[in-house]
Amino acid sequence: MIGQHFIRILENHPYFEVSAVTASQQSQGKEYRAATDWIVSDSIPESVGQKLIIATESQDILKQDIDLVFSALPSSIAFDIESELAQGGLPVFSNASAHRMDDDVPILIPEINPDHLELVKTQDYGDGFIVTNSNCSTSGLVFGLKPLQKFGINSVIVSTYQAVSGAGRNGISSVDILGNVIPFIFNEEEKMVTETKEILGNLDDGKVKPAVFDVNASCIRVPVYDGHLESIVVDLEESVEIDDIRSIMNNFSGEPQSLNLPTAPVHPIVVLDEPDRPQPKRDLSLKKGDLGMAVKIGRIRRQRSRLNMILLVHNTIRGAAGASVLNAEFSMVKGVLG
Ligand SMILES: NC(=O)c1ccc[n+]([C@@H]2O[C@H](COP(=O)([O-])OP(=O)(O)OC[C@H]3O[C@@H](n4cnc5c(N)ncnc54)[C@H](OP(=O)(O)O)[C@@H]3O)[C@@H](O)[C@H]2O)c1
Repeated sequence: MIGQHFIRILENHPYFEVSAVTASQQSQGKEYRAATDWIVSDSIPESVGQKLIIATESQDILKQDIDLVFSALPSSIAFDIESELAQGGLPVFSNASAHRMDDDVPILIPEINPDHLELVKTQDYGDGFIVTNSNCSTSGLVFGLKPLQKFGINSVIVSTYQAVSGAGRNGISSVDILGNVIPFIFNEEEKMVTETKEILGNLDDGKVKPAVFDVNASCIRVPVYDGHLESIVVDLEESVEIDDIRSIMNNFSGEPQSLNLPTAPVHPIVVLDEPDRPQPKRDLSLKKGDLGMAVKIGRIRRQRSRLNMILLVHNTIRGAAGASVLNAEFSMVKGVLG
């Protein structure tokens, strides 16, 4: 699922070109178009469709004429191979959770914690390094929280309504999810808690000091194709007017915007004023200036110092492939790719 989005996003990319594709043993040696049940756009980009899939083995990958790697591997496989590729001198931009909590590996979201990219200098991989993006639900939550950090966050409660595409191409059977809601996603709540605090933590003396507020998460799978909806309750030290919150969110911007990076949305956060928005069906905008990279926020309410809001994130784009491509663009413009 995420591999397909990578190939879609990288078609005609101004900085990067897909040189090689890898997959599991059952796909190796086949043309990409024969091995792939393409689902993310009208057709497979011609230049990649005819490529022969190579083995996901470091010795095979390191023989290719490539400058960097995007990884959308299952986490269990990603750990060793991502280390080996970094050791072999390649920058690795990964969606897998395998290395996210390594002390020296950033969970980078360049609008939010651009300085965490510095961590790659402390890695022990020679010329290579690993940069991760967060898990898909966390990638939305941190956009809802970052603009509020200046008012002092005491605690956060988040409940998610997560799409089936978050479980991968063949992740959930229709028998299990149609007409149903599943109140459990393996390890998702734990990831939301630790990754949120890590991303919103401060880089101090070459280490991330995680944010200290409590995060309480409940993660639920719903029969929606794409788009994770999140109900967020934030307890702030200060009480802030709703109109001020709206304006702060709408005007939020970061380095990817000032650097005009190709995958950066014009506005990373878009506040919707209609009482029944955001909705996955209506608000996962793939329009120019957004391309699934902007987080939508609505239903902002206040009860004394406690704020409620509903947030929508495109899980396979801002929560995965798009996030990784933006990280690579950011690293390149910052001179980290060498
Ligand atoms: N889906 C999301 O919204 C999302 C969001 C954030 C992060 N992620 C993370 O991104 C990664 C990929 O997720 P996905 O949703 O794209 O999963 P997916 O649709 O199941 O795709 C997994 C890919 O990994 C390949 N693969 C499986 N076993 C392999 C092996 N032993 N050796 C080499 N390649 C192997 C598969 O190859 P074949 O094509 O040959 O089967 C397939 O291309 C996971 O770590 C996931 O947690 C996903």
